[in-house]
Amino acid sequence: MTQHTTTRDGLSVRGVGKSFGSGGRAVSVLRDVDLEIADGEFVAVVGPSGSGKSTLLNAIAGFVEPDDGEILVNGEPVRGPGPSRCVVFQEYAIFPWLSVRKNIDFGTRLRAWRGSKQERARVTARYLDMMGLADFADALPKTLSGGMRQRVAIARAYAVDPEILLMDEPFAALDAQTREQMQEALVDINQRERRTVLFVTHQVEEAIFLADRVVVMSARPATVQEIVDVPWGDRRTHEIKTDPDFVRLRRRIETLLRSSAH
Ligand SMILES: Nc1ncnc2c1ncn2[C@@H]1O[C@H](COP(=O)(O)OP(=O)(O)O)[C@@H](O)[C@H]1O
Ligand SMILES: [Mg+2]
Repeated sequence: MTQHTTTRDGLSVRGVGKSFGSGGRAVSVLRDVDLEIADGEFVAVVGPSGSGKSTLLNAIAGFVEPDDGEILVNGEPVRGPGPSRCVVFQEYAIFPWLSVRKNIDFGTRLRAWRGSKQERARVTARYLDMMGLADFADALPKTLSGGMRQRVAIARAYAVDPEILLMDEPFAALDAQTREQMQEALVDINQRERRTVLFVTHQVEEAIFLADRVVVMSARPATVQEIVDVPWGDRRTHEIKTDPDFVRLRRRIETLLRSSAH
């Protein structure tokens, strides 16, 4: 299929299984995982620690090859890493030798759409602005706080404009206050840009706050235990975290997670 006829259908994970090791020491990590994410949807994945969330994300990224099943991005089977998927990790995966601006510019160079140098500079400036990085454009990452560095990683990932953004606990290393600010920054950029996002976290509150749907994984071997719809649409301010409906949803998911852990 050529770029022109490809419509963005999103992500399909069908019957995916994965074990590590072999023989008697093989550990089954994913079992029969099915998941459909529509174009423009923000889906969070929660599950017990060590259940296989990162393995699932890495399989979608193309870093890990499943033993069973298939993964399709816009109808195209995933056969390895590629520009249709962009990953934001917990560790700051940005280039330490490039300024903030150049890190984001690197993202704009990976776009399927390649504009002129001036157009790219405009796109980069827009992302700097959106993530509150304009004042730090010429700074090197090592001079920035952890939160600011994650802003750079997220801005760069959005600048690439991939079919799907994969985020593996990107805020896990941040303090609580910075984490809340980052959640708001992510809501903000995503409401403007509307990308397809798969966001892994073990914090249920974060999952509900960010996502349109929350996928609850079981303990290892991980399989989809339940998919919960989040009814707040674009209403994503921190006040909703104390809304009785929010608290009820959080408790329900936490109970599901506890019941699956062994
Ligand atoms: N490359 C690998 N080789 C062997 N075991 C692995 C590998 N990657 C992950 N595992 C194992 O798979 C299980 C799930 O890991 P992971 O997907 O990182 O879980 P989570 O992200 O949910 O914490 C763990 O028991 C981990 O030790
Ligand atoms: Mg993980």
